[in-house]
Amino acid sequence: MSSASPGSTTGTPRRPEAARSRPTDLATDGLPTLALRGVTKTYPNGKAALREVNLTVPEGDFVFLVGPSGAGKSTLIRLVIREELATKGKVILEGRDLARLKRREIPRIRRRIGIVFQDFKLLPNKSVRDNVAFALEVTGTPRSRIGPAVDRVLRVVGLSAQADQRPGELSGGEQQRTAIARALVHDPRLFIADEPTGNLDPQISWEIIQLLLRINEMGVTVLMATHNAEVVTALRKRVIGLEDGRVVRDEMGAAYHRED
Ligand SMILES: Nc1ncnc2c1ncn2[C@@H]1O[C@H](COP(=O)(O)OP(=O)(O)OP(=O)(O)O)[C@@H](O)[C@H]1O
Ligand SMILES: [Mg+2]
Repeated sequence: MSSASPGSTTGTPRRPEAARSRPTDLATDGLPTLALRGVTKTYPNGKAALREVNLTVPEGDFVFLVGPSGAGKSTLIRLVIREELATKGKVILEGRDLARLKRREIPRIRRRIGIVFQDFKLLPNKSVRDNVAFALEVTGTPRSRIGPAVDRVLRVVGLSAQADQRPGELSGGEQQRTAIARALVHDPRLFIADEPTGNLDPQISWEIIQLLLRINEMGVTVLMATHNAEVVTALRKRVIGLEDGRVVRDEMGAAYHRED
């Protein structure tokens, strides 16, 4: 996101023909944000967590990834953030085959992705502000740019007033919003949430979902793995279902449970 306002121009549809003249950098015009082609992931213990998965996520999409525990949702996410490599097939992020990245290219690609988890993963001894700032400090962002960038994302998630509190002094929802701010501060093009409402009560879960919808409205592609049937069914977004490592459904405007 290049602007903190929901009306930012980053969501403007782009011309597909621009893809042909794509330079070697991370320009994404016309390319899907994410594509998996025949992806199989077998862990070293022999467990096949994903089997021949094919999917395409266009820029600006909002996708729920559903399926029973052990279906492979988190494994798929680990492949997309290149924490794991596919055993077979290709994972393509913004036109780049993740298996073919040079080591020095990985941090740059990772910054195109913001990710949050069920268990927030905040640094307990740092304030909200410092948790978010840390994400920029580790990438060598000049100090003069860190303060304004942190203030901007704290405004987006509605935590400006809590900026000096530590995670232990926050509610679960506020902790998740801190994690979301931290994930947003690099202006990601893809926002991934792995069961982000798993530790939150229903009311707070809805607030987090509203925030993810706003992030999506800013033009950021959102992929959310969840067991939250109520949220999925209410929002009628694209639903990709995994079972035993396979894509068993991919429907637009769908409910959590298959309706046919
Ligand atoms: N590092 C690993 N080594 C071996 N097997 C693994 C590893 N990580 C996950 N698995 C197995 O791969 C399968 C898919 O796991 P994964 O965590 O992707 O499921 P999930 O859909 O995210 O489940 P949940 O809804 O419980 O989070 C499971 O059978 C799991 O036990
Ligand atoms: Mg999981």
